[in-house]
Amino acid sequence: MGKQHICICNSLQQELQDIIVQTNHDRLFVLTDEHTEKYCLPLIRDIKGMDSAQMITIAADDTNKNVESLSSVWSALSRHGATRHSLLINLGGGMVTDLGGFAASTFKRGIRYINIPTTLLSMVDAAVGGKTGINFNGLKNEVGVFNPSEYVLIDTVFLKTMDHTNLLSGYAEMLKHGLISTQEEWHRLLAFDMETVDYDKLKEMVAASVAIKEKVVLEDPYEKGIRKALNLGHTVGHAFESLSFASEKPLAHGYAVAFGLICELYLSHVTCGFPKTELQQILTFVKENYGVYAFSCNQYEELLELMTHDKKNESTDINFTLLSAIGEIHINQTARKELIFEMFDFYRYSMGV
Ligand code: GLY
Repeated sequence: MGKQHICICNSLQQELQDIIVQTNHDRLFVLTDEHTEKYCLPLIRDIKGMDSAQMITIAADDTNKNVESLSSVWSALSRHGATRHSLLINLGGGMVTDLGGFAASTFKRGIRYINIPTTLLSMVDAAVGGKTGINFNGLKNEVGVFNPSEYVLIDTVFLKTMDHTNLLSGYAEMLKHGLISTQEEWHRLLAFDMETVDYDKLKEMVAASVAIKEKVVLEDPYEKGIRKALNLGHTVGHAFESLSFASEKPLAHGYAVAFGLICELYLSHVTCGFPKTELQQILTFVKENYGVYAFSCNQYEELLELMTHDKKNESTDINFTLLSAIGEIHINQTARKELIFEMFDFYRYSMGV
């Protein structure tokens, strides 16, 4: 896998302009969704080299990360004469960078592309590390390839206009990165005031978070081993997310991960000796900032079923990434049904649901 150049920009316009001028390409394309076309494209619309760019816009929202939207991107590339020497810029959240990355990776067997993530979630996770793809047959990210963008240009200016829910959603992935790195990083994340956001501080923390992910991905780009560390909180988190989709109140991805972290750190405590102090810290932080996700004991079997069908599993066992301490990672862990139900009991009791 090629190396991805990740830049935390002081001036997105300048960085992008330099890259466009330096990169040998015949045609330039910019992919946005309806929101980023309106709110983010104006930031880069007037830079040198952009005047000849062909814009492609798809419908926003993860429900449109599908084969129809993908096909519309391929069609637009084809209609406007894209060749193997063309360049695609993906400007948007994870939906745009995942789908655009897959479109670029497959069009004429692969053209180069650049990610400009516009949400916190895509800055610290989706746009980094080369996972691309679409949802298919009702399953998230069912079809895709590993193929990194040539550049990821991160400008945290986009975060200043981001709503609180989406900011918190991305922050859950930062919490996960803190948990798999160092005490220092973990405490910095816990101390951050999510109510009165200091954007300069957040920019530094985004840079640190991205560096944690980058290091893991460089070590194991195709998720054969240590990249599974990035799945911490996600085995339970994905089950919560799926369960919530059948209800009136679907959970944002990061919220599901935050609640999943509580559960999986409880499992870590019981099976690997993860300290009680840190378990209490995540509980308090999540409760204060994310609220609670409520479910009943009648839904345990359904959650178990959802986890059993998670694509991270390599056999019929449910695959967990657990910790014995901050930064002490244990991949490919399993747990008995009784313990998984005990974990749900712990979550519900601690969250008061
Ligand atoms: N989102 C986890 C990964 O990129 O591996």
